[in-house]
Amino acid sequence: MDKQTYIRDVAEHVGEEVVIKGWLYNRTDKGRLQFLQVRDGSGVIQAVVFKKNVSPEAFDAAAALTQESSLMVRGQVRQDDRAPGGFELDVADLQVAQQALEYPIQPKEHGVDFLMEWRHLWVRTPTQAAILRVRAHIIRAIREYFDTHGFINADTPVITPSACEGTTTLFGLEYFETAAYLTQSGQLYNEANAMALGKVYAFGPTFRAEKSKTRRHLTEFWMVEPEMAWVDLAGNMDVMEEFVTAVVQSTLKHCAAELKELGRDTSALERIEPPFPRLQYDEAVRLLKEWGVPIEWGDDFGAPHETAIGEHYDKPVMVHRYPAAFKAFYMQPDPERPELSLSVDMIAAEGYGEIIGGGQRIHDLALLEKRLAEHKLPREAYEWYLDLRRYGSVPHSGFGLGVERTVAWLTGVHHIRETIPFPRTMGRVWP
Ligand code: 4AD
Ligand code: MG
Repeated sequence: MDKQTYIRDVAEHVGEEVVIKGWLYNRTDKGRLQFLQVRDGSGVIQAVVFKKNVSPEAFDAAAALTQESSLMVRGQVRQDDRAPGGFELDVADLQVAQQALEYPIQPKEHGVDFLMEWRHLWVRTPTQAAILRVRAHIIRAIREYFDTHGFINADTPVITPSACEGTTTLFGLEYFETAAYLTQSGQLYNEANAMALGKVYAFGPTFRAEKSKTRRHLTEFWMVEPEMAWVDLAGNMDVMEEFVTAVVQSTLKHCAAELKELGRDTSALERIEPPFPRLQYDEAVRLLKEWGVPIEWGDDFGAPHETAIGEHYDKPVMVHRYPAAFKAFYMQPDPERPELSLSVDMIAAEGYGEIIGGGQRIHDLALLEKRLAEHKLPREAYEWYLDLRRYGSVPHSGFGLGVERTVAWLTGVHHIRETIPFPRTMGRVWP
């Protein structure tokens, strides 16, 4: 088979003959001219089939092509500033690999429910493919940051015997003779790894049986979780803002074409750099009241509060020291006000909500034992975790960044379900 050139590389082949292998995105019939929009995963190019330039068989095949048929076209690359990508292909030959059946997704508006039923095909639509390319880059930028800042990648198990983030959102499973759960967070194991390796990160899928049908919730999502020994809450926040800045700036640099295609106004993102605003929970509640958003001290934030906070700043905001009462069992109390926890959430600008949750962990054995009891967690399942406080315990901190919420924020996509190839939500496990 002829060597394939990818559409993203055609600029290097102007005036040369190349072979593009892809799928027909759209076709315009002008009689003796067939304009084929061919996509190959790296881009879309217009291939011009002129009757007099190709064999009669090739021309008939072009004129009969259905949407999403797979094909190979050979032709000369021509620079044309009027063409969408700046280049066109003058076709000399064409071969159809498979003539597609009538395609269910037309290049017109469909409802999201319809598109989600056909998600296995919807991912081919150029805007969806652009979101997935940005997602891939964000993941690369995340790894790049940690791999170049002294963190060791140490992944944590997906199948676990205990809860990390409360028992109400656990997915249970039968594990031979015993009960087990899909992990909600790798944090507890990450803490063990941090005591072995100093600074670590885990990166993988996490699961929550969330009964919330919102634009920010999936039941299966990816999370990157750094954990650092000998780091306190303030040091944790320093890493959070530097890390998020690195991911944002790298994405702007490498995904400019995709973000443009998605119509993302990147001006606010371009200004993101440390320091980010740091707002104590008390102060955030005071401001929310001032802005007329209903809240009482002691309430957890919901979407309206996060949205309001995000909209009042042009950078992500770090809200810290939430009341311990509604935070996880492992949160270190504030030594000056023990009713507060040394927790921190990062709330993205432009109303995208919480993208990071984290904090300083309890390092004292007696206190951790007390908290497990208060949270009515089965102590046996946490014995190994308590060992970390028996053998050389140190203050330590970490956080988790949700990949899909970050993709939604950076691409400007409204709903999180478009930020992962096959979203899992309360109402959907198909396809
Ligand atoms: O705030 P969360 O629950 O924090 C933890 O799990 C900590 N154990 C992490 C740590 O300190 N190592 O979740 C962290 C982030 C959220 O800020 C959000 O971005 C994302 O994970 N997230 C979700 N994303 C999509 N759908 C859901 N249902 C999510 N739940 C959390
Ligand atoms: Mg959280």
